[in-house]
Amino acid sequence: MTNTPDSQFDQLFKQPSIEAMLQLSSKKFEHFVAFVLQQAGYGVRDVAAKFLRGVDLELQSRHPPQQRFGGIEAKRYDPSHLVGLKAVQKLMGAPAIRGRTGYLITTSDFTLPANQMAATSKNIRLLNGVSFVRYITYLKGSAYTDAAVLNTVIPPDGFAVAVPNAKASHTKILTIANNKGGVGKTITARYFASILAARGETVLLVDMDPQANLSEYIFNLRAERIAEEHLRQFDWIIFDTPPAVSLFTRSALAASQFVLLPVGARFSSISGSETLLTQVPTMNALTGSAAKVIGGFITHWGDDRDSNDMAAVIQGVFTQNGSQLLQTKIPFDVSIKRRTGRRKSQADAAYDSLVDEVLGYVNSHYV
Ligand SMILES: Nc1ncnc2c1ncn2[C@@H]1O[C@H](COP(=O)(O)OP(=O)(O)OP(=O)(O)O)[C@@H](O)[C@H]1O
Ligand SMILES: [Mg+2]
Repeated sequence: MTNTPDSQFDQLFKQPSIEAMLQLSSKKFEHFVAFVLQQAGYGVRDVAAKFLRGVDLELQSRHPPQQRFGGIEAKRYDPSHLVGLKAVQKLMGAPAIRGRTGYLITTSDFTLPANQMAATSKNIRLLNGVSFVRYITYLKGSAYTDAAVLNTVIPPDGFAVAVPNAKASHTKILTIANNKGGVGKTITARYFASILAARGETVLLVDMDPQANLSEYIFNLRAERIAEEHLRQFDWIIFDTPPAVSLFTRSALAASQFVLLPVGARFSSISGSETLLTQVPTMNALTGSAAKVIGGFITHWGDDRDSNDMAAVIQGVFTQNGSQLLQTKIPFDVSIKRRTGRRKSQADAAYDSLVDEVLGYVNSHYV
């Protein structure tokens, strides 16, 4: 396969859409599919002219030991024109995929008989236009696309695993995340849980951080109380996450409906926010769910010039990523660790209004 950089493909990879793919010729679409599979870590061979292989593209490992993964048949069809049974049967008989996986990828969709036929075969996978766009979105946010990782591939079907979440129940699931450490994720999760609980909501607080700071904070909650709560349905599930896009953070995002980002009023917390903002569409693409980013809010706020300058920059980062910065700012408050007294500290009051702001968003976006 040629490796000529193609700015049209780069652009399409950045902003994938069925409409844009339909602008390509059939041959160009085939090459774009090859380009996408290369981003997923495959070595790709164009064998469209070799009729005996029976596919357009063959997939293999990029580095020795040479491994063959199967083949791809690409169909750039107008959405009104579905891919039918014959195409599936032809792929099933293709020598290139014998004992391996054959993918049929289209800009359009498949007829019912085509779907039924594919379902009878263990090694045939169909990707319609919507799934293919989701696959690209998933690849873009996946660290594994790093070419330095030898022979790591992301198969086109490995991503489309629907994660059941609590949509059917009334439970609201919120993840507190930022790739940057020490910005106040754990404190925020803890405040949210205690404020919501004080307002009569049942809350399950989940510590997804292997450092387990949150568990240390709440260790003195009585075990029998937790057991009792488990028997009932929770109004809220809140995930605290580690400062990394690890399996833990990804799992929390996959299960969530809402994501909230604490952002330290420091330049260093910007890249962590950006990383996280790209993870949400990635996990939505992976799971087919639609977690919403509520937005960011400033923590460690000092009401000075530096903090104000940083807030303006951070606001810009969120807006550029199609999100928002909430109004509430959490002041730097040295008494925050000793949140036991009756008197409300500055941070207590700020977290109260943050919860109000978040509830305003959640209530208008919860379906
Ligand atoms: N508003 C605040 N004022 C003063 N100190 C704070 C405030 N919020 C958090 N802290 C302190 O900052 C430190 C980091 O906070 P926290 O543990 O909540 O961050 P985190 O994002 O969960 O960190 P990590 O990424 O390591 O999990 C803690 O020592 C905490 O007590
Ligand atoms: Mg933490």
